[in-house]
Amino acid sequence: MAKNTLTLIDNRVDKTYEIEIESATIRAKDLRQIKVTEDEFGMMSYDPSFENTASCKSGITFIDGDKGILRYRGYPIEQLAESSNQLEVSKLLIDGELPNEKEFRKWQLDIQSNNAVPEPIKDIIQAFPKNAHPMGTLISLVAALSTFYPEAKNITNDKENYLNICRLIAQVPILAAHFYRHSQNLTLIPPDNSLSYAENLLNMMFDGDEKKLHPNIVDAMDKLLILHADHEQNCSASVMRNVGSSEPDPYSSVSAAASALYGPLHGGANEAVLEMLGDIQTADDIRSFLDKVQNKEVKLMGFGHRVYKAYDPRAKCIKKAADSVFAITGTNPLLDIALQLESIALSEEYFIARNLYPNVDFYSGLIYQSMGIPTEMFTVLFAIGRTAGWLAQWKELLSDDEQKIARPRQIYTGYGSRNYIDVSKR
Ligand code: ACO
Repeated sequence: MAKNTLTLIDNRVDKTYEIEIESATIRAKDLRQIKVTEDEFGMMSYDPSFENTASCKSGITFIDGDKGILRYRGYPIEQLAESSNQLEVSKLLIDGELPNEKEFRKWQLDIQSNNAVPEPIKDIIQAFPKNAHPMGTLISLVAALSTFYPEAKNITNDKENYLNICRLIAQVPILAAHFYRHSQNLTLIPPDNSLSYAENLLNMMFDGDEKKLHPNIVDAMDKLLILHADHEQNCSASVMRNVGSSEPDPYSSVSAAASALYGPLHGGANEAVLEMLGDIQTADDIRSFLDKVQNKEVKLMGFGHRVYKAYDPRAKCIKKAADSVFAITGTNPLLDIALQLESIALSEEYFIARNLYPNVDFYSGLIYQSMGIPTEMFTVLFAIGRTAGWLAQWKELLSDDEQKIARPRQIYTGYGSRNYIDVSKR
């Protein structure tokens, strides 16, 4: 019978090693036994940007990048986006199962009863420049929450962890909406527990504006939050786990994860897409823009993905949601450019050869813009949805006995030992 092992031959010393395979993976640490001399450290694997390294075992999110499949806890993203809601999906991600009615009511109540943002946080918000980037303020405000909940450091206490999970899910949208109101010179709107999670978020931003709280828009916002809720070991989830592995409170870890999300290659891409579409301006400019992309002068933002080598399933759901929003708001003038850009790019050799397809952020920004949300808030909305995923990843990390403090190795390429030279002699 075939063995589930890998045989390696070290040709430096003509020695053979047999290494166990589990889930088509070998343990990097098994390579350490491979050495030429006994006093050597042993072999490592070199994997800049972790393109082929599994850092954990996870039961949360499944992606098949070649087939364009995304599932949370086994449920296809299309079904969750169509039929569930953000709070239910948060519970699913964090606890592993869809809640029954009673469990959902308790979860909702626990979130709602923890939505009182500490009063001094509002003073901190007032202190931010009104033109500050809202991701910078969100990152700071989430970190600041840890100073109001010092007991959150007791991460071995499950009750404490549950409380802080509830607070984060409840308060991240409030921090975001409060800063938005501050940036617009508007009074802060408190949360309203009679509203759904998505509607409450929109209401805290737009204070009962009926057009901006239209059911189609609330529904689209809910879908966008669900679609952004988790995506396995992406850059920000990895940061959540890396920071979490040194065992600080979850506010500090979420703040770090949000920092990772901020960048234009990750959550900041939706903002970058709108800027790009704005720069292209007219359909006549698409050709010259794509030439620049192919000459590697610029990137086609909202295209490409580390994992998906097919159409991102979230982008398909978003395209559907876009229609119901545009039915209310009227079409977004940049949509035509986006559609043409997509269609031309998908037919060109550069994109076909590299399996570059639209990702979740290609269309999300267009919907947000039509909803009347300023471009700089796009990544913040992503962070609100993703908070549930970060917390699910964090909870799983805490219960994983195999995990220790994250600490990669390096291949040292610097000088050998050399003696200090006094400044006057350099
Ligand atoms: N535009 C043009 N070329 C691209 C793009 C793009 N958007 N994405 C990748 N490529 C090219 C690369 O230049 C490279 O070409 P080469 O083989 O000739 O060198 C090839 O495709 C492979 O790309 P990599 O950079 O190796 O892919 P990687 O997995 O490292 O990057 C990433 C993935 C960062 C998402 C990249 O596709 C990108 O920068 N996209 C634009 C930003 C974006 O939309 N980010 C959002 C991702 S979704 C999310 O985070 C929620």
